[in-house]
Amino acid sequence: MSTLSAVSSGQFSIGGDLAVHRLGFGAMRITGSGVWGEPADPAEARRTLKRVPELGIDFIDTADSYGPEVSERLIREVLNPYKGLVIATKGGLTRPGPSQWVPNGRPEYLRQQVKSSLKRLGVERIDLWQLHRIDSGVPQGEQFGVIAAMMKEGLIRHAGLSQVGVAEIKAAQTVFPVATVQNLYNLADRSSEGVLDHCAKEGIGFIPWFPLAAGSLARPGSVLDGIAKRHGSSPSQIALAWLLKRSPVMLPIPGTGKVRHLEDNVAAAAIRLSDADFNELSTLAAERPERARG
Ligand SMILES: NC(=O)c1ccc[n+]([C@@H]2O[C@H](COP(=O)([O-])OP(=O)(O)OC[C@H]3O[C@@H](n4cnc5c(N)ncnc54)[C@H](OP(=O)(O)O)[C@@H]3O)[C@@H](O)[C@H]2O)c1
Repeated sequence: MSTLSAVSSGQFSIGGDLAVHRLGFGAMRITGSGVWGEPADPAEARRTLKRVPELGIDFIDTADSYGPEVSERLIREVLNPYKGLVIATKGGLTRPGPSQWVPNGRPEYLRQQVKSSLKRLGVERIDLWQLHRIDSGVPQGEQFGVIAAMMKEGLIRHAGLSQVGVAEIKAAQTVFPVATVQNLYNLADRSSEGVLDHCAKEGIGFIPWFPLAAGSLARPGSVLDGIAKRHGSSPSQIALAWLLKRSPVMLPIPGTGKVRHLEDNVAAAAIRLSDADFNELSTLAAERPERARG
């Protein structure tokens, strides 16, 4: 019986010098409904965060807009001083209300948000800051330019992008070193395959959001269910194990506000799928158009 630990997922060096275990934690679900306000069960959300490093997870994904502010604040309250934990955050989406996300990529806004995240997280430099969305209403070069400037000023150590295509990544790479890309990707939605391949070629960490959306594939009797039974695990764990095997640059960040689900997800780190299982699962995926969400 293997130990329940994210350590089994192996490591990836963000930007070539910031090593993290590949199975991380998504901190969007420690907020209220619609990623708005306080979590329904604040004590359980805090217990979940406390359990994260105990389970060998050293990579947490959050954003200024989760809550807004609630996720970053809880992370600081429960986990600061971070002792080797890498807290990656994002900026560039405003929140008019629950489930509403509106991009703002004006350089002065992005700078203001980085400064607020620094304060809320209680750090002098953000290890990894990602532009949550490229704002189509602001010249791309201005958004990338302020990121390069904030890196030079030491506010940000590494920088990344979210929900982008290969052309956008290449354009950004001419302005700052792109350390990570965070796109919607899971067994059932492989529309970012091309982006993943580009990231693998360039040594860019690929952070698949919505990694557990196994959805219909998790139905009893499906191939996913059959493989899960063979491994004595849940379909969700198989979906995460598939992601981990798909590419060495893959950094899944399953999200939850519950200790039980966190522990369930970490168990995926130790699952080793055979090539036959992996190939069988890969053929299940039906391509769907990319969706824009938080
Ligand atoms: N860059 C972007 O635009 C973007 C967009 C969306 C998300 N993200 C990031 O990606 C992370 C992951 O995405 P996500 O949270 O949307 O989706 P996800 O990880 O695929 O799924 C999370 C959902 O599944 C439930 N869940 C988690 N573990 C479970 C388990 N073992 N058994 C049953 N249910 C389980 C959670 O509910 P409970 O809380 O009840 O466990 C939650 O509703 C987020 O936390 C966030 O950090 C980024």
